[in-house]
Amino acid sequence: MVKKEIRIDYEEYVSVEEMSEADRALCRAAVEALEGSYAPYSHFHVGAAVRLSDGTVVKGANQENAAYPSGLCAERTAMFAAGASHPDLDMESIAIVARQDGRICSEPAAPCGACRQVMAQYQTKGGKPMSVILVGADHIKKFARVDDILPLIFDNI
Ligand code: THU
Repeated sequence: MVKKEIRIDYEEYVSVEEMSEADRALCRAAVEALEGSYAPYSHFHVGAAVRLSDGTVVKGANQENAAYPSGLCAERTAMFAAGASHPDLDMESIAIVARQDGRICSEPAAPCGACRQVMAQYQTKGGKPMSVILVGADHIKKFARVDDILPLIFDNI
């Protein structure tokens, strides 16, 4: 037996001002996307924004439903909208932000496993790393590729 380790490197920013203009704009779009959140049950609002290979930004927000499993997370809402409306463009980056009690959560919200799996597949489809930016009020975490938040990816496609 050999003990091994999986290491995750990421960048942490104290403010969006430290980021590239494109990433800053994507973070802003994720915050704007919060306005589309429909969360009458959890009152936990999530916004996401996907940047495509031509610079187009597509927003999404969580959509809840009385039949709970019929709702959808912000990330998948954004990615499916991007995939459906721009099937020939690749997804280059996704930014995610959460708001509760009227305030952006200080700790960045981490995407659920199902959303990570969907990110993984669009990354594979595009053939290039998709960066993942988790926006919190106190700091921002940027992961260079989906593999960094989903080690041992299942992408048997
Ligand atoms: N939610 C997201 O939109 N993204 C995630 O990655 C985790 C959870 C939503 C789903 C539900 O509307 C609310 O947050 C509470 O779970």
